[in-house]
Amino acid sequence: MSDDPKYNAARAALDFIADGMIVGLGTGSTSAHFVRLLGERVKQGLKVKGVPTSEATRNLAEQVGVPLLEISQITSIDVDVDGADEVDPAFRLIKGGGGALLREKIVAAASKRMVVIADTSKWVETLGAFPLPIEVTRFGFALTAQRIHAALRETGCVGDEVVLRVAGKANEPVITDGGNYIIDAHAKSIRDPDALGAALSRIAGVVEHGLFLGLAQTVILGNASGAEVKSL
Ligand code: 5RP
Repeated sequence: MSDDPKYNAARAALDFIADGMIVGLGTGSTSAHFVRLLGERVKQGLKVKGVPTSEATRNLAEQVGVPLLEISQITSIDVDVDGADEVDPAFRLIKGGGGALLREKIVAAASKRMVVIADTSKWVETLGAFPLPIEVTRFGFALTAQRIHAALRETGCVGDEVVLRVAGKANEPVITDGGNYIIDAHAKSIRDPDALGAALSRIAGVVEHGLFLGLAQTVILGNASGAEVKSL
């Protein structure tokens, strides 16, 4: 697939940005398009400040000239623009494919509006085909994984396999910006996202999970020729 759908979604999100805003900057390839486009607008005179959701996004924003604020310097964010791995018709999301879900959720929760940018392949009837990323402490991660497995079963998910995310030739565990591990939960189909989210939040060792429930108000789905904007 060409990258046009992601680019078109990112470009349509610029309509939600106005002078003087504090803007949450998401992570991933779709968000990277948005950060680059925002950098172009800043060069043309737009006055905004960005709050990055990962070190990768911080580096990109610095390269393209988007002025940044630290999360400690702000009390709220006007609009957060971020990608997603899956979006359902109630605007519930799976996020964290890029491993940045913790900062992404903190920024989304601090935002007056979350605008999700994605290509149409991310739109699903039921969440769960994409493995759900869950950020866990390194200490006791195998025990935490067992409890996540139990939570998947207890909340009626179709799949219950849990996999520690690894990368590189040596298959080393991926370490997040927060210094934690990621467990990918292969739920296959999440029948009750609220119940699963609540069960995961009760597990000691779970830092945050990638179910974003009740956070997004707008979803922009990019296609080859443009983008469709949906709002709740
Ligand atoms: C990163 C994320 C991304 O937003 C998600 O993985 C989508 O990525 P992409 O825009 O590259 O398809 O949640 O943690």
